Amino acid sequence: MAERDPDIDAVSGAERRTGHSAQSQGEAKGSQFVPVAPFELVVFGATGDLSRRKLLPSLYHRWCDGQIPANSRIIGVSRSKLDRDGFRKLAEESYHEFEKDPDFDAASWKAFAERLDYVSIDVTAKDADWASLGKALSGPDEALIRIFYLAMPPRLFVDICEGLERSGLATDTSRVVLEKPLGKDFASAYQINEGVGRVFDEDRIYRIDHYLGKETVQNLLVLRFGNVLLEPLWNRDAIDHIEITVAESIGVGGRGSYYDTSGALRDMVQNHLLQLLCLSTMEAPASLDADALRTEKIKVLRALKPITPETVEANTVRAQYVRGTVGGESVPDYLSDVDVDASTTETFVAIRTEIQNWRWAGVPIYIRSGKRMAQRRSEIVIQFKNIPHSIFGDVATPRPNKLVIRLQPDEGMKLYMEIKEPGAGGLRLKTLPLNLSYSENFTARYPDAYERLLLDVVRGNLSLFMQRDEVEAAWRWVDGIIDAWEETDQRVSLYTAGIDGPNAAHAMLNELGHRWSEVD
Ligand code: BG6
Repeated sequence: MAERDPDIDAVSGAERRTGHSAQSQGEAKGSQFVPVAPFELVVFGATGDLSRRKLLPSLYHRWCDGQIPANSRIIGVSRSKLDRDGFRKLAEESYHEFEKDPDFDAASWKAFAERLDYVSIDVTAKDADWASLGKALSGPDEALIRIFYLAMPPRLFVDICEGLERSGLATDTSRVVLEKPLGKDFASAYQINEGVGRVFDEDRIYRIDHYLGKETVQNLLVLRFGNVLLEPLWNRDAIDHIEITVAESIGVGGRGSYYDTSGALRDMVQNHLLQLLCLSTMEAPASLDADALRTEKIKVLRALKPITPETVEANTVRAQYVRGTVGGESVPDYLSDVDVDASTTETFVAIRTEIQNWRWAGVPIYIRSGKRMAQRRSEIVIQFKNIPHSIFGDVATPRPNKLVIRLQPDEGMKLYMEIKEPGAGGLRLKTLPLNLSYSENFTARYPDAYERLLLDVVRGNLSLFMQRDEVEAAWRWVDGIIDAWEETDQRVSLYTAGIDGPNAAHAMLNELGHRWSEVD
């Protein structure tokens, strides 16, 4: 039986196409979908990768499900000399390119596309024509929620906000969405936060970490705080160590010039992995309210053991992929992918850390993320301690329990327990999982993270966004690692594309008798 989510529901493609059209707002109200208030979304960087791949398709999906009122508008802004029709065409082509939707309904798309408009502005130019954006926006009598989405490099965030302010477009109620990365270190993030904060109040700034919009990431909160069983065990007494892996099989794609100045630590750890770490280890917040969540997450970030030049070698591994085979396909090395002769940018990073508080002191926490690894796999593994005493003597040795929270693909959870293998022939123990598989229990289509997050901006719900002090605290910890790498000139090891990172990352766990969890 499929479960329903009142905010963003998820249904099969066929059901979705019949559920809504531009004219069916009445129907939508009667259905399980809750439409948001009418809005006007201005997407800066509208012809870029993020907008074409994620934002526009996500909006279309929400449109099909009747959550976007017909008088809402989406206004693309970029340098490209397109007109409105050109932008609509680009949006449709992108949808086909990235979504490959077998249930595509041309009439629904046409109705959605009528909401799309386009303004060509070079926001980097001194004489940027902000007035033309002003003309494309609604007048005061229309009272649409106004949102500016900055899908642009972070160095432009402040200039754009100032341009919006100068031209009178940033009203008291308008909201701004900042796409990651937010800076490249603490200092640049601080400057951005200051600059944007001069124009928009903190409660109107939505800093996106799309991992927070993923179904299973939100489910972490439900797993931990919607069940009574885990909490008594969720601490240093019962947990031996924690592993967080975000492995990707893809390389750096067409993003080489960005990636080579970033690397895995800044691109993935500073945001996605630290958010996962916070949600996995924080104390129970009083509610799902944004401030309550932020308060608990920030405590974790501030309690992370700093990595220094003295400890960096033992506690971090940085590596880069070389030519290999991923999923049966041979792929080039990183240097060819980014088209440079030499680079020390890491495409893989593994870190051993600890949270210095009463709940977690002494529990090793391992995090790793890499590109061109054996397969796409994101998971959190809670490795419990073994039983204090075995009653089975030499006959059988129970293995410690393990909880694997799989974020993608094959979303779900497995709690590995010991049971008796049935049958005669002596007492034999077997490790088997209690399996909470999403695909086996739900028939729903899982909305893309951006579908939820975009509508949360319209709803004014900040819970799944990062607040300023979280971002800055995360950068402070990451800066410590970057500085220590530079100061000690730590080696970048190499790993063959298609394997799960370099040997050094395995050796780091072996030191304490641990092993990275393998795909089961
Ligand atoms: C982005 C990173 O934030 O997340 C990319 O910049 C990475 O490098 C991507 O590929 C991974 O997201 P997902 O949702 O595919 O796990």
